[in-house]
Amino acid sequence: MPTPLPPDWSDRLALDRAHVWHPFTQMQVHEADPPVPLVGAEGCDLLLANGERVLDGISSWWTCLHGHGHPRLVSALERQAAKLDHAMFAGFTHEPALELVTRLRPKLPANLTRAFFSDDGSTAVEVALKMAFQAQLQRGEQGRDRFGALRGGYHGDTLGAVGVGELENFMTGLFRPLLLACERLEVPEDPRREVHPDLTGWPARLDAAREDLRTFFNLHGGRLAAFIAEPLIQCAGGMRMWPPELLQELRSQCDAFGVYLILDEVATGFGRTGTFLASEQAAVAPDLLCLSKGLSGGTLPLSMTWATEAIYGHFWGEPASGRAFLHGHSFTANPTACAVACASLALFDDEPVLAQATALSATMREAFALLAGHPAVRQARSLGTIGACRLVDPATGRAHDPAARFGWRLHRRALDHGLLVRPIGDCLYLMPPLGTPPARIAEAAETLLHLLGGG
Ligand SMILES: Cc1ncc(COP(=O)(O)O)c(C=O)c1O
Repeated sequence: MPTPLPPDWSDRLALDRAHVWHPFTQMQVHEADPPVPLVGAEGCDLLLANGERVLDGISSWWTCLHGHGHPRLVSALERQAAKLDHAMFAGFTHEPALELVTRLRPKLPANLTRAFFSDDGSTAVEVALKMAFQAQLQRGEQGRDRFGALRGGYHGDTLGAVGVGELENFMTGLFRPLLLACERLEVPEDPRREVHPDLTGWPARLDAAREDLRTFFNLHGGRLAAFIAEPLIQCAGGMRMWPPELLQELRSQCDAFGVYLILDEVATGFGRTGTFLASEQAAVAPDLLCLSKGLSGGTLPLSMTWATEAIYGHFWGEPASGRAFLHGHSFTANPTACAVACASLALFDDEPVLAQATALSATMREAFALLAGHPAVRQARSLGTIGACRLVDPATGRAHDPAARFGWRLHRRALDHGLLVRPIGDCLYLMPPLGTPPARIAEAAETLLHLLGGG
């Protein structure tokens, strides 16, 4: 049984019920299961108002990188907020933004020389899409009026980002009449990521996928302004891990057809996949790179879209030329967020953050190897610090009926056992902060086994 809430929370929850609209939520659900009150966070844990602590097994939507309330990030935040909290970035510049560019640039592919700031993952993607389209126009490519994207991709919730995300699911299908023109390419999942891989026929399937990719470009390459992809793993699409060889093929087809390659590392950046960027594992450099979430260590909203000098060059001209990139947000390059991002990147330099990610990756693989033994679990797999599997009804071997809301119930039950997980459809996954102690991951796997009825 969950520990009861202190009495003062009943009024606060009534206030929430009366006036708050939560994200990604059918609000009727909260009539029976009100939102869980949080009062704090410490390291890899969230502190609940009922006095319990839960492991933030999904890094609060994949944001929290070094743990909550990291003293160096908190102190950077306090110092910067007291000095220059915020100012407009059009016509001004400041040290935190410049330090951030200086710290980040050597960690990125060398061809990315220009940084454009915005606020969150969706806006980083909007910026990349608009930049790609405008750059194509300004280099004289008039007919490129659409984008390419992977099936099952997710790039955010603003309309441009939704347009290059997967159309067929309930979140985006509704908005179809309002969306960008987008051609979609299916890529297979990479069985080599599974803890018990079945590689029968894999080389032939990989060759066929490569061929499909070439056919796609022969068909659509001349009309695309850019192709956007989440490198190696489609996170919101259900932790679909796809082969690095196809990312390499994507790069070479984009080059052959004059299509910009946008890599969306909003979720995968900053060590989550074991390397600083996921795309490093395929040795692929994009023309445009989207970063957010872990950029500020997961503490404040901040994002960047990095572009090549060639793209930047297509916007250069006299003020009257009309070539400028006329885009910006009120909080573009917020100095406080930039200072926190600098503190987060300094940790990568001063402490063994990537070595921690490597250790966590091994623990994660062991955890999912353990889960793989459960009859409700299929396709247990991992990529770096991200572990995932598919949940089925052991009686039928098929996915649970969505109407039974198995994932939501698992989420709520897990909270009562000290663990935050939030399955995406039938995909159960863990993506905790990089410094999570291995023992906590082993514990999380045991908890999940118990909740699935195996322990
Ligand atoms: C790959 C990817 N791109 C973009 C976004 C959108 O980011 P935000 O929610 O910060 O707008 C997300 C969010 O989960 C994401 O996973």
